[in-house]
Amino acid sequence: MISREEAIAMVEDNVKNKNLRKHMLAVAAILKRLAAELGEDEEQWELLGIVHDIDYEETQDDPERHASVSADMLEDKVPEELVRGVKSHNHEHTGVEPNSLMEHALIAADAASGLVIATALVMPNRKLEEARPESVIKKFGDSSFAKNIDRDRILHCKELGLSKDEFLKLSLEALQNIHDELGL
Ligand SMILES: [Fe+2]
Repeated sequence: MISREEAIAMVEDNVKNKNLRKHMLAVAAILKRLAAELGEDEEQWELLGIVHDIDYEETQDDPERHASVSADMLEDKVPEELVRGVKSHNHEHTGVEPNSLMEHALIAADAASGLVIATALVMPNRKLEEARPESVIKKFGDSSFAKNIDRDRILHCKELGLSKDEFLKLSLEALQNIHDELGL
């Protein structure tokens, strides 16, 4: 398995958009936190987050290929379960349905990272530290807020044995821990 640094270097080679790179780091931070919470492999879960959208710039106009192209890029670099995990986060197109804790966690973290960041951006100083778990929970329930974020994907957290509120709290804490890297 490639190291965290090698994975980040690979992302930097393939993803020019800084916000997209930050998104991948955000998802990775949530996954690492979840793995710690659930007694799973923190290194592996974090790596999945770091690489999960590595093909995005190539496939953004072609969602049917999203994740399959990543899988090809990653095939000989990461363990098979991570390749499968990447594919299952676009299961609607790859046909690879999520069936492990890590796979459900990626789907939930992918969407939750967007909700947490959108919540931070409407705080008075646009900072993660200003957001409270209750702020994120409230925004989850406000269907007119950040409409493009699919709440049903966040609810994959239930497959991890976590309630929505617990999961959003953990996600917020994970992103607050890397606020410098995210610039928020
Ligand atoms: Fe993503």
